[in-house]
Amino acid sequence: MSQWIDVAAEADLFEGAGIAVTPQDQDIAIFKVDDGVFAINNDCSHGNAKLCEGFVEGNYVECPFHQALFDVRDGTVGCGPATEPVKSWPVKIEAGRVYIDLAS
Ligand code: FES
Repeated sequence: MSQWIDVAAEADLFEGAGIAVTPQDQDIAIFKVDDGVFAINNDCSHGNAKLCEGFVEGNYVECPFHQALFDVRDGTVGCGPATEPVKSWPVKIEAGRVYIDLAS
C-alpha cells in the first residue's frame, strides 16, 4: 500500500542541487533533473556525507566527500569509491507539491 507524504513545494526545487527533507525521521534528498524529480536517501552509502550537498550533473549527484557518483533516478552507483546503492523513493508532483511514497 502506498503512503504518499507531502514533503516540499515544487517551487523549492531547482536544477543543479538537491534539497533535504525529513518526513517521519527519514533523511531524504530530492533532486530535479532533466528526466524529472527524484528522491534518494540523503546519506551516502560510503560514509557520513549528505548527498543533498553534492554537485549535480546530468542525472548524477557527486558525493561531496569522496566524489562517488549516484544516479538520482534509482540510487545506483555510477562511479566509486562507493559500492552500495542508496535507496530510492517514488516521487509524484501534484498541484505544485512534491510527494514521496514512504511505504515503498
Ligand atoms: Fe560518499 Fe565517501 S562518503 S563517497
